[in-house]
Amino acid sequence: MAALLEIDGLKTYIKQRHGQVQAVDGVSLFIEEGETLGVVGESGCGKTMTGMSVMQLLPPGGYIAGGSIKLDGKELVGLSDNEMRKVRGNEVAVIFQDPMTSLNPTMNIGAQISEGVRIHRQVSRKEALDRAAEVLNLVGMPNPRERLKDFPHQLSGGLRQRVMIAMALSCEPKLLIADEPTTALDVTIQLQILELLYSLKQRLRMAVMLITHDMGVIAGRADRVNVMYAGKIVEQAPTEELFESMRHPYTAALLASIPRLSQNSSAALYSIPGLPPDLSHPPAWCRFQPRCQFATARCREEEPLLTGATPEHQYACFNPVGKGSLRPTAPLTH
Ligand SMILES: Nc1ncnc2c1ncn2[C@@H]1O[C@H](COP(=O)(O)OP(=O)(O)OP(=O)(O)O)[C@@H](O)[C@H]1O
Ligand SMILES: [Mg+2]
Repeated sequence: MAALLEIDGLKTYIKQRHGQVQAVDGVSLFIEEGETLGVVGESGCGKTMTGMSVMQLLPPGGYIAGGSIKLDGKELVGLSDNEMRKVRGNEVAVIFQDPMTSLNPTMNIGAQISEGVRIHRQVSRKEALDRAAEVLNLVGMPNPRERLKDFPHQLSGGLRQRVMIAMALSCEPKLLIADEPTTALDVTIQLQILELLYSLKQRLRMAVMLITHDMGVIAGRADRVNVMYAGKIVEQAPTEELFESMRHPYTAALLASIPRLSQNSSAALYSIPGLPPDLSHPPAWCRFQPRCQFATARCREEEPLLTGATPEHQYACFNPVGKGSLRPTAPLTH
């Protein structure tokens, strides 16, 4: 059976005054019904552009240059704005890092949530408001009925994020794209929101694309993980397997930089030395090579493709790290 979401060879570019950024460069991934897929990588590696390609909400100059995105078997690439509007918020919904930029400060939250409901469902104003109260209750908003009249600025950051989640869930999407849903929140609230998302996903049997730069967020929450680097997927595996036996040196470095929740946010984290390549002129060989401690001559000549002993666990590296350790296995070239 086909997966709920199937992305194949997706290329999403952003035209600029001089040239263009190849933000997503040949990404293929899938999400099964009810599954949570973690999409992890450093800032600028193309996570958001991958998610926004599904929604077709790209920044100015952004366009899908190639590939296919199928939701429930239906091709989304090439759909008109009108057709996409029926998909967005209905079959697939998104929550962003910062609720203040997504919520309308001049509308009360009841009006905002019910507006979304009325776009997709033939219901009266009253029924839409009832639905708003129902989803606010679902996301753990205290006294949801009374809260319908509140404006976003009257709520704390955690409650605003709950409102965002309520809006996203109001039409029961099959797929929720959660793009850094907790990054802007403080640590205890982060955990509460992640728990809430997890329990809602179980209850509503919804699939989730959980986008984060933090491996700690996906641990125990995602079924599978796709690791992105410089516009490409460099490793994909079931979550537990990735944590136990990652093969790509970039994944290993990301895992080494998991922030501890107990850690003071000002404490120094391990970070990967160097910077990702400029995506307006990406190299034709391994994109991680300049930052990789295991790089050999071949890594500067050829681009490694995704490969692996099983279809479930694939990595794009000529010198993968050994099982559970950082020792490189024997180089493939002599
Ligand atoms: N509005 C924009 N205009 C031009 N380039 C952009 C724009 N938004 C993103 N990009 C570029 O596209 C590439 C991918 O960006 P994207 O936002 O998908 O990264 P990300 O993985 O989500 O990073 P972050 O963790 O910081 O959110 C980056 O090189 C970025 O500079
Ligand atoms: Mg992003």
